[in-house]
Parts: sequence; C-alpha cells; structure tokens
Amino acid sequence: MIPDEVVDQVRDAADIVQIIGEYVNLKRAGTDYRGPCPFHQGTHRNFSVSPKKRMYYCFVCKEGGDVFRFLQKRVGVEWPAAVKMVGEKSGIEVREVESRREGPDPREPVWEVNATAAAYFQKILWDDPLGAQARDYLAQRDISREVADQFGIGFAPREIGLLRNYMGTLGFDEARLTTAGLLVQGEDGSEPRPRFRGRLMFPIMDSIGHYVGFGGRLLGPGEPKYLNSAESVAFSKGKTLYGLNWAKNDIRREDQVLVVEGYFDVVRLMAAGLTTVVAPMGTALTEAQSVALRRLTKNVFLLYDSDKAGLQATFRSGDELLRQGAAVRVVTLPEGEDPDTFVKQHGAAALTARLRDAIDVFDRKIQLLERAGMFSELQKKRRALDRLLPTVRAASDAIMRDLYIARASEVSGVAREVLMRELNGRATPVVAPPTAPAPRISPAAIVRRGDRRAKHSERGSSAERELVRAMLLNRSRVEQIAEKLGAGSFRDPEYRAIYRALVANGPDSTIDEVTANLGEEAIAALEDIMAEGAISLDTERTINDSFATLRARDLDLRAAELDRIIPLADGAQKDKLIAEKDAIRKELKATGKKLFKQFRQTRAR
Ligand code: CTP
Ligand code: MN
Repeated sequence: MIPDEVVDQVRDAADIVQIIGEYVNLKRAGTDYRGPCPFHQGTHRNFSVSPKKRMYYCFVCKEGGDVFRFLQKRVGVEWPAAVKMVGEKSGIEVREVESRREGPDPREPVWEVNATAAAYFQKILWDDPLGAQARDYLAQRDISREVADQFGIGFAPREIGLLRNYMGTLGFDEARLTTAGLLVQGEDGSEPRPRFRGRLMFPIMDSIGHYVGFGGRLLGPGEPKYLNSAESVAFSKGKTLYGLNWAKNDIRREDQVLVVEGYFDVVRLMAAGLTTVVAPMGTALTEAQSVALRRLTKNVFLLYDSDKAGLQATFRSGDELLRQGAAVRVVTLPEGEDPDTFVKQHGAAALTARLRDAIDVFDRKIQLLERAGMFSELQKKRRALDRLLPTVRAASDAIMRDLYIARASEVSGVAREVLMRELNGRATPVVAPPTAPAPRISPAAIVRRGDRRAKHSERGSSAERELVRAMLLNRSRVEQIAEKLGAGSFRDPEYRAIYRALVANGPDSTIDEVTANLGEEAIAALEDIMAEGAISLDTERTINDSFATLRARDLDLRAAELDRIIPLADGAQKDKLIAEKDAIRKELKATGKKLFKQFRQTRAR
C-alpha cells in the first residue's frame, strides 16, 4: 500500500491542470479550466477542472474525481500506478510499503477527541457566560465572530471538571483525554486537571486538516502567555506549521509563502485576504517545516519581529530554507509592530507593499552588519565573515551561492578566492577571539545549579583566581597587579568584576566598599576566595606565575586571531600582522609556556 500521507502529498503537489491538459484541450474560465469531455466524447466545453479543489467534473456525464481517478479512467492504469505517475511528475518519490498497520492509525483517537474538544471550547466561547471575558478579549483585538469561527477559535474555562464531564457524556473517557494531553493526571491520585485553563484556544491542524493539537493564549498577563499541546504521537511542534491546512493550495497557486511568528498573525493576515501564510509557533523553522514549505513553493518571505529574538529566528530559518534551495526574503516592519498589528492598523495593501520591498535574507544580514560598522576594520571584518559564511554554505542553490560569495567579497573587500578557499573546507581555527560572545549556557546558569566551584576550576581560571586572592588579602598589591594587567586579561566575568571593583576603590578600601556594586555571582565568588584564605606559602611566586600564565594566554589568543585575519589582509598590513605573529611565537617560546594546545581545546566549538 501507499501511505495516506504520501497520497495526499502527491495530490497536493500535482498540477492537475497541466496533467489533464495533456489529454484535454483546456481553456481558462475564471478560476477553473474548461474543455470538451474526454469520457463522453463531448464537443462542448462541459468538462471542468478546478485547480483549487484539485478535482475534475463533467457537467453532462457527471464523471468526476481527483487527478488519480482521471488517469485511471483515461489512461487505464491501476490506482497505485496513477499515484506513482503523478508523483514522478511532481518529484515526489512514491513507494509502496507493507501494510503493516493492523488496526487503524493510532493518531486517530487523538484527532477525534481534539476535534470534539475544539467544538466544546467554541461552545463555551460563544454560548456560555464563562466565555464572556474571552469574547471581550476578541472584540478588543478586533477579531470578529466570523473570523474566529473560520479558525475554530474557542475558550477553555478555568473550571476543573467541566471538560471532563462534557466529554464524558459524549463517550470520551479520562484515559482518552489524558492520551490526547487535554487532561493531566494528578500525581497523588487527585482529580485530573485540564492542561488548558482560562485560555483562548486555537486548534492546530496538520496539513490535511486533522486536529493534532491546540495552542492556548492567556487572556491577561501571566506565564506562559502561550501554551501548546504536549508532544505526542499526534503532535510534534517542530513538524507542524500553523495555518498550512488552509494555506497550502494558495501557497502553491501564488507560488509564495509568508512565514509569521504566531497564531494571531496567521488569523489576521488570512482574514485580510493574505492567505499564503503559516506560522511555526514561536520558533525558527525546523528542517521538517522548511522541507514542507519548499515542496509548495520556492519563494519564502520571513516576517518575524525585528527584536533580537526575531532576528535570530529570521536568520536561523533563513539558513534552513536556503539548505532546501529556497529563495528567502525578509520583510521588515516598523519597530514594535508584528504582522497582526501592522495589518490591523494599515491594512493588507500596506503589507503587500512591504512584501515588494522585501530584501534577500543574505542582504539583510549584510545590512545589519554594515550598520553595526562590522566592515570597518580587519578584526571586525573577520567576525562579520564568520557570520556570513555559514549562510553562504547553507545556500544549496549553486547560482544563489555564487551571488552570495560575490556579495560577501564586494562588501568586505576580501578576494573571492580567499572566501572560496575558506568555504571549500579549510576548517576555521577554533579559538574564539577575546571578545567572542559568551557561551550559550551562561556561567551564571551553571552557578544557579549550585556548582560554582566546579565552574571556576574547570575553566582553568586558577591564575585569575590567585591574582584576585592576592589583591583581596593584601590591598597594596592591587596597584602592582593593575600595572601589569588590564581587566581584559580576566576572562572570568566574576573575577573581572572583582578586579574592576578593587582597582576602582583604591588601596584603602574596605571589603564592604569593594562589594557595594558587585553582582550576586561576583560576591559569591569573592566570599569563596575569602573563605579559603591564603593558600600559598610563596605569594610573590604565585603572583608571578599567574602573570606569566595570563600573559601566555593573551598571546595565544592573539596569535589565533591573527591566524584568522592574516588571510584577509594584504600589502603592508599583512606584513605587519605576520611580524606580530612572529614576535608572539618568539615570546611564547622563550617563556616555555606550553599553553597553545590546552587553550585551543578548551575553547573548541
Ligand atoms: N509562543 C509560544 N510560547 C510562548 C510564547 C509564544 O508558543 N511562551 C508562540 C505562539 O505561537 C505565538 C507566537 O509564538 O503565537 C508569537 O509569540 P509572541 O511574540 O509572544 O506574540 P505576540 O504577538 O506578543 O502575541 P500576542 O499577539 O498574542 O500578544
Ligand atoms: Mn502579536
């Protein structure tokens, strides 16, 4: 047998007008196509093909069906062969699988209970006093009843027993509600509670309209603002796109898709007639979502917020889509607006105008880097290229990739060949420059897990720690140390903060003055050191060793950075950088510090 999803997918992907057009002379008539019926050998245009419905129908002989039925009837092939024929034309591989499924699809009971619950939530929203506040909320957001009904929006009441009782009368028991994730079993045998309480409910459907889950929004402030169904056999957030069931045909027809962040954006745009819109529910597009979109169209517009999180999602989604060979453009809305508020205020036409001004995702990246002055000097340029090259790499479309390389070369002034060499496999050195962004898990987060000591020793910061200790135990050493090291030599944020506070407060300061402006983490680190007291017998020697260690580390990091920027430089600048690298190598050799490998490994990605 051929899996249902594949059949649906092939039917969706098929250009029914083109396929039937090979056998029938079709002419456009409004949104449909008409021609003489091949089945009763008609001569008038009574045979109609609807690309929107993906069906054909003869008004005279009443023969009708989908594209597969047409091929069965007209070409005389069996149904599986028809599916394979169409699949081939649309580039979808159709493989028969053993019909291993004994019983029905295990997701079916979940779809069914969700669909029923959705109807219940709608009933509460519109016909129950419990829905009054939600009705006000929708009115205040300018969502009419008609629009709300179009999307099946409902309201889940706060009350604990209502959903269970209602569903019970329809024959859905607790077990089934729990499997669907609508009820959460109390741990101590207490009454099961609804997962969604006091939330506006958006039913989420898969691309063929099964009720796979819900997204629920609180009416007022509170956390989390949105709650989705838990991951289950039926629901996978990363594989689902909200709105796809409504949008897919239009996406194919108009050959474009708008990607927005959330439910209200989809609802608003669709209601305003911009029907080629989907939302990945608050995150960047996953690979699965990108693949699903790419099957429908090559042209993707990203309409995320322009705040930091939104930009991150934009570029992550962009890379994912480029990997699938899409052409990705970014639409920028005025500060503080999202597609929902923008269309509500300015209308659909204004958004369409913005779509025309959309710029390619790679150009958008360049634009932001340019505005941040990232192409002004060599070191920044290096970091700018580090941001651009992954996107060039992601572009699977050869022409697009070539254009991107040309653009990157143009904007950075770095020769194409240098960029190509880097793209074609020369691994970039793994050492991050001293100004590199913080690791993804912040040290503070580790501390919060109650493991501060491990953190400080793990990061090889004992030299920093010893210098801080020396200064804390004897304030007169602050000056001695500050003469040799700047704050930048302390990589540990807590030690750096303590160092700064010590320098700022001078040699006569009390511990209270030093800690006055320190954060919680820095104070904790300071207390640790104070509690340990003096641990070295020869403080002078410890200080000197620590100097040497930090100096070697600074040199090592600078050397690694030079490795990264030398290929970008030319002429006199390049000679100067190479000379600097030589000097560093000599100094490191002279001090005999064997730190190179060690640092690079600890900072490896
Ligand atoms: N989202 C989510 N979980 C959250 C927050 C957001 O799943 N805790 C998803 C939802 O799909 C939501 C989308 O991210 O629709 C956008 O969220 P947000 O940026 O908070 O949207 P707003 O425009 O602020 O939401 P609203 O318009 O409802 O005020
Ligand atoms: Mn919004």
